[in-house]
Amino acid sequence: MSCQSAGSSTATRAVLFAARKAHGRPARTGRPCTLADKAKVAIFISGRGSNMAALLYASQLPEAAYEVVLVAANDPSADGLQLAAAEGVHTFALSHQGMPRADHEAAMEKAARQAGADYIILAGYMRILTDRFVKRWQERMLNIHPSLLPKYPGLDTHQRAIDAGDSHGGVSVHLVTPDLDAGEVLGQMKVAIREGETAESLAERVRYAEHQLYPRILGDYVSRESDPSFLLERVRKLALALPQTHERESHGAPGWRAGSEKSGKYFAYFNDQHHGSDHVALLVKTSGMDELLNLVEAQPHAYFKPAYYGASGWIGLILNRPNLDWEHVGEWLERSWRSIAPKSVTRLMNVAEEF
Ligand code: GRF
Repeated sequence: MSCQSAGSSTATRAVLFAARKAHGRPARTGRPCTLADKAKVAIFISGRGSNMAALLYASQLPEAAYEVVLVAANDPSADGLQLAAAEGVHTFALSHQGMPRADHEAAMEKAARQAGADYIILAGYMRILTDRFVKRWQERMLNIHPSLLPKYPGLDTHQRAIDAGDSHGGVSVHLVTPDLDAGEVLGQMKVAIREGETAESLAERVRYAEHQLYPRILGDYVSRESDPSFLLERVRKLALALPQTHERESHGAPGWRAGSEKSGKYFAYFNDQHHGSDHVALLVKTSGMDELLNLVEAQPHAYFKPAYYGASGWIGLILNRPNLDWEHVGEWLERSWRSIAPKSVTRLMNVAEEF
């Protein structure tokens, strides 16, 4: 996670550089990024695969933040499979015909996992996915849709935009959720609708826009997990969602307290590469030194003993690492909050949880 050169995305490097400068530390050059540092993506297609091709070639740029570890299709004759294979990318094809939906997607998923994918990228994949599958890949599955969502989810998007007299059609990249084309929109590009436009002519130009947008948005998205400001925003949201909490800076770092402004106590701090450490971390309270040392020893990729705070039982939960489980971060925050929050408030919370 701490590589700083060609392999990590420009955006990520810029953020880390800015973050270090802001803290008065020189930017590190560090070891060069290797393929192992890049996010691994599996792309699912059903046909031509022009978006897949755009993603694949963009991944070959030196600063790309992701690599394509698999191209998989539900149609063995999908053109995109040949293109991917010719570029040396591992492919997988399995017709969905005659197979229960869940079995087919389980086979696609297995291929993605075996290829080591951290993300599934849908690019013209014409299968509806089960809710269970979507939930398993929540926040790790992106799709591209040829309209300016929330306008025109579903099919026939171009004709619907023309019929409505819209000045623009366009394209959206969004997170996949169980509701069709309804997940958070990560990026959009508008495409002008001209006089006499047909659905075909508009689709052709929208595709140019798609090929620009998808690689950029995917690159930025997979880089977020090492972006300190993104991580801080997420932690802040979780911390402030707990009852009777407020934020207060402590020695230049954001911290969160439970109780009143006057007599509240800290239950969490955010550390951005403090004291020469590579970590962007959340500091929370353990039950004591035994637990802290055991966790650090058993899971050094996830925990560390922070300078100064470690001595009084605060543990560093490393946030800038792949596949971070945000539910787990939320659980740590709640636990730490419970250990210092006024009993009157935790009692109320216990009662609420029973219902
Ligand atoms: C694209 O228009 C995309 O927006 C939609 O399906 C189409 C796939 O085209 N989801 P291609 O196979 O990438 O050329």
